[in-house]
Amino acid sequence: MRGLALAFVLGFLSCTGFAQNSPLSSEEIKAILRHGPWPALWSPDPSNRVSGKVLCATCHAPFRAWQDARPRAVGLAEVERNTMNVLNVRYMRWFGWDGAGDSLWAQSIRPILDAREMGGRVAQTAALVRCDAGVVAALGKALAAFQETLVTGRTPFDDFRDALARGDAQAQKDYPEPALRGLRIFVGKGNCSLCHAGPAFSNSEFHDTGVPFFVAGGGVDPGRHAGIKKLLANQFNLLGRHSDDRGGKSAVRTRHVALEHRNFGEFKTPGLRNVALTALYMHNGSLGALADVVRHYSELSADRLHSDGEVLLLRPLRLSAQESADLVAFLESLTEKKASRPRRGPRRPASNDGRLRACAAGGPAAAGRAARDPLRAGARFFARC
Ligand code: HEC
Ligand code: HEC
Repeated sequence: MRGLALAFVLGFLSCTGFAQNSPLSSEEIKAILRHGPWPALWSPDPSNRVSGKVLCATCHAPFRAWQDARPRAVGLAEVERNTMNVLNVRYMRWFGWDGAGDSLWAQSIRPILDAREMGGRVAQTAALVRCDAGVVAALGKALAAFQETLVTGRTPFDDFRDALARGDAQAQKDYPEPALRGLRIFVGKGNCSLCHAGPAFSNSEFHDTGVPFFVAGGGVDPGRHAGIKKLLANQFNLLGRHSDDRGGKSAVRTRHVALEHRNFGEFKTPGLRNVALTALYMHNGSLGALADVVRHYSELSADRLHSDGEVLLLRPLRLSAQESADLVAFLESLTEKKASRPRRGPRRPASNDGRLRACAAGGPAAAGRAARDPLRAGARFFARC
């Protein structure tokens, strides 16, 4: 029966010549256009978010290596700093360009409370999850548990490094020559490894590398100097009651932080894994390409550096064109081979137990959800709140 009906319709269409040449009428065009454009406009559900407008993933977009490809972040208003990606954050000791966060969970609460980023306030946010600051901390902890799973995959550099460790000369040959020459500058005369240290290529400490700290409108970004003040004033720091490890090892660093004049204009050493995917560079997004970063280190002005600190670590390298290209080739070799999406690390980081307890102590409904499956809760919060 259906076959018959179809045959009838097809017959009708071919009899009338409808499908072929007759030009579309303006009515038809209008009707067709109404089926697009795609993706269609959409506005977020205001009942569903802290600010109704901005999500973690607005700035930390998974498909853009967990950042936003803008010089400076734009949430509810523009902020002065470049969005850091949230890859490999579990290896960091301090968070934010200025280290105002001493734990990943404290750092994850910050944008929710920053009027320019997501615009909430502790009270509002707490009301949202129907409880108190303990629940805000639990939210941060779930977000942190999720972000701890964001680990970049292996790179050509890792294959080379492991071949070197095994003494496998044959496998070492797969690493491109220019990258190897660049690597030798990185660990040699460039002194880059001094700060971009260890497997994550960051010492998680703060330095002034001569990047200007003036911001639009004439102010300055004091970097670490202001970061320390914010850290010590923050009720969510590791010395506060929301930490699960107040007397333990993690609080020691925060207890010993001291404000010094040299902290002015210092920013955190970013990790360099997947760096080829995370342009723009530096805390203010002022450098567009890796070649520009290499030129920055090549032409540094020593007068601009702190006389008691970086001037001893950094000096203008005056690299030749070949050396600069080699250093860029090395930096590119720190990027995953198939990397638009970072691989996920282990499902349940070992450090989660304390967080679970805190969630449970923090507040009923949200904590219950987060405690049952903190990673899922964190992933949901990240994409939705
Ligand atoms: C408006 C854009 C924006 C939004 C929204 C945003 N971030 Fe960020 N994120 C940034 C910027 C900018 C920085 C650098 C902050 C600084 O130094 O002051 C950053 C830094 C971070 C860091 C520190 C990374 C490191 O290596 O130190 C973490 C972690 C982080 N964000 C997590 C989150 C989470 C979780 C959310 C959602 C609750 C979120 N962010 C929402 C822009 C944003
Ligand atoms: C004294 C410590 C130090 C040394 C030495 C150093 N860096 Fe850096 N690097 C930093 C800091 C701090 C930043 C962030 C500076 C800022 O934003 O103001 C940075 C930023 C970068 C960035 C940008 C990353 C991003 O995500 O924005 C790259 C790439 C980089 N460095 C590569 C190198 C190379 C290559 C060398 C060697 C020629 C080197 N660095 C030497 C501390 C250092």
